[in-house]
Amino acid sequence: MYDNILNEKLMKLKENGQYREFVTLNRICGQYPLAKTNHIENENSVVVWCSNDYLGMSQNPIVIDAMHKAIDLFGAGSGGSRNIGGNHYQYKELESSLAEWHNKESALVFPTGYSSNDATLQCLLRLFENCIIFSDELNHASIINGIRSTKAECFKFKHNDTKHLEKLLSEQPYNRPKIIVFESIYSMDGDISPIKEIADLAKKYNALTYLDEVHAVGMYGPRGAGIAAGLGISDSINIIQGTMAKGIGVIGGYVTASDTIIDAIRSFASGFIFTTSLPPAIVAACYASIEYLKTSCIEREKLHSKTETLKKHFKNAGIPIMNSSESHILPVLVGDAKKCKAAAQQLLMKYNIYLQAINSPTVPIGTERFRVNITPNHSDEKMIQLTDALVEIFSLFNIPFSHSMSKTI
Ligand SMILES: Cc1ncc(COP(=O)(O)O)c(C=O)c1O
Repeated sequence: MYDNILNEKLMKLKENGQYREFVTLNRICGQYPLAKTNHIENENSVVVWCSNDYLGMSQNPIVIDAMHKAIDLFGAGSGGSRNIGGNHYQYKELESSLAEWHNKESALVFPTGYSSNDATLQCLLRLFENCIIFSDELNHASIINGIRSTKAECFKFKHNDTKHLEKLLSEQPYNRPKIIVFESIYSMDGDISPIKEIADLAKKYNALTYLDEVHAVGMYGPRGAGIAAGLGISDSINIIQGTMAKGIGVIGGYVTASDTIIDAIRSFASGFIFTTSLPPAIVAACYASIEYLKTSCIEREKLHSKTETLKKHFKNAGIPIMNSSESHILPVLVGDAKKCKAAAQQLLMKYNIYLQAINSPTVPIGTERFRVNITPNHSDEKMIQLTDALVEIFSLFNIPFSHSMSKTI
């Protein structure tokens, strides 16, 4: 009976073209963004065009060296939760570095970015009695999950719509606890939120602000500390959350805030207390990566200049980048789940290009897309290869080019 229920659900996913299939990608250290799908000799390598290792830091020799050294010194695992035996000295170093980066008093490291959002929001919403949460409608699943695991009243505001947010805020008593949660860069559309305007509203209506900078840390701001830092307004955000799995190139999540907020999360968040801490080698690698990115600008400069060049190639070839994009994330509209999946397969098989199809429920039906991310390591030649391959694939599958579209996307 149980298998039947589950098989029925899986069948529905398959029928809708939403069933997820993993592509094996064996990344080749030192040759980023190249990978091999079969791990056999003389096999052609594949060019990865949709990695969240935005700056190639996972293969940076300084990061790898820090990880090697820590493994040799401390072994593979941490040995326990932070509270019970799993608290190596590197945590203090990393948390001080993160707090300093975001201009906050304290920071707290979690095993993943997902768990940092989930556990922190759950914790704060339980601690602030009668708290209301105002959440951007396009917030990430980790944020939604954290909110849903509490009884807090939740109002979704229209994406990046400060007028709607203000209307919702103004309907609540000034002294009722409130949190506004939003992201700086939205990962599927590549757009940037009006951080200053939201922070101003928070001040006016007595709300705390929680900003997810997962797709910005490492890449934006003078020292890579994110969009809020770049705007010089980190101080007007109460809690800045980030990941060390994307721009930083390793794994792990964190929140930074005042001493009191961090102490409360450390003391009350179930998802922090009752889980094994990250291995010391991971923490050492994260620390090395962040310290490196605080002073090295070359990676982010290359990322942004190459993004502009790739955009030009796409524009000239009629490959439709969605208008929402204001960042290094380039969503390319396909608009059909089955075509998107088939086109991705063809790109891999015929052109040795890996681009993951992004279908519903991750994005709305009709806006299925490829999410293209260039990195500092993609050459001009590879950009041209990608553009040419997309042109052929769009023609083959009858996917609309930008010049044949009647409305803006
Ligand atoms: C906006 C946002 N927040 C949080 C996360 C989770 O981060 P992590 O991959 O480190 O768990 C993601 C992951 O893609 C994300 O897009």
